[in-house]
Amino acid sequence: MSTPSPRVAVVVGGTRGIGREIARHLVTEGHRVTIVGRTADTGTATAAEIGATFLRADVSELAQVRRLAGELTSRHDAIHHLVQAADVIKATRVDTTDGFEVGFATNYLSRFLLVDLLLDRLRAGDAHILHVAAAGAAGRLRLADVPPGPRTGAFRAHGVGQGANDVYGVELAARLAGTGVTVHVANPGAVETGIRDEVARTPLGRLLNPLFARLMTVRQPAEVARTLLDTARRHPDAVLIGMKGPVPLPRRARDEALRRTLWTRTAHLTTPHPQG
Ligand SMILES: NC(=O)c1ccc[n+]([C@@H]2O[C@H](COP(=O)([O-])OP(=O)(O)OC[C@H]3O[C@@H](n4cnc5c(N)ncnc54)[C@H](OP(=O)(O)O)[C@@H]3O)[C@@H](O)[C@H]2O)c1
Repeated sequence: MSTPSPRVAVVVGGTRGIGREIARHLVTEGHRVTIVGRTADTGTATAAEIGATFLRADVSELAQVRRLAGELTSRHDAIHHLVQAADVIKATRVDTTDGFEVGFATNYLSRFLLVDLLLDRLRAGDAHILHVAAAGAAGRLRLADVPPGPRTGAFRAHGVGQGANDVYGVELAARLAGTGVTVHVANPGAVETGIRDEVARTPLGRLLNPLFARLMTVRQPAEVARTLLDTARRHPDAVLIGMKGPVPLPRRARDEALRRTLWTRTAHLTTPHPQG
């Protein structure tokens, strides 16, 4: 009898933090795992440590998402797990060469585009798509804020991306219903990772951080990774999940018109528009 080929997992943002622990967990389950990040040193070291393959890409740049998708498509006929956990929170606004705030581009636009470009492979693998974001936690989503305009600060622009993930995730799940692909958008709660380091170094961050640390339960990324994977498997139909189980859909994610319009707008934002 021939041995079945290993299931393929891709973890974008799998070089550090929550993504790294999800990747580690998938490796221990026997998946063939590729991790993606911007930094070659960190990526190579993590890949060697957990037994994964590293691909370098800065997914805040849409051209690099396209290149990454091309690379993954040429390597794999089917993808069984796609985890997207790449994100940054900047202390002050930084824009990508595409003209988007970098947090919004990383935590939202890149996810939409990568799923779109890998759809055939994800369908072929009856894939589980897991977006690690802030399910249910971001405030109201106004279409006028998508994409966040040039006067929107970095923190707010990052939050728009998180809120958009909920609305997009529910729409993606609806569009993929019956195909064998499942979709989750997760809220990991407060986790001890490096994502808030830059903000924590600002005067306001230095003031507020000790307060947050006292008010919130801060978990370790390994525990969070295990819990989120387990919750996703126990609740395949609950799109939004958190550390204690499914998260009720916020009003923005139940608004079908908003879901459709956000989809169309995001598809437009992620399509190349040649100059001239
Ligand atoms: N930690 C928390 O308390 C918390 C709370 C709520 C939600 N979340 C969400 O959980 C997710 C994971 O966050 P985390 O805490 O694990 O963050 P983290 O420890 O800072 O890890 C972020 C990962 O993303 C990668 N990355 C960042 N920008 C990238 C880019 N442009 N292209 C490719 N890779 C990129 C990083 O690697 P490189 O730097 O090498 O690129 C790293 O592997 C995020 O969506 C975050 O918003 C976290």
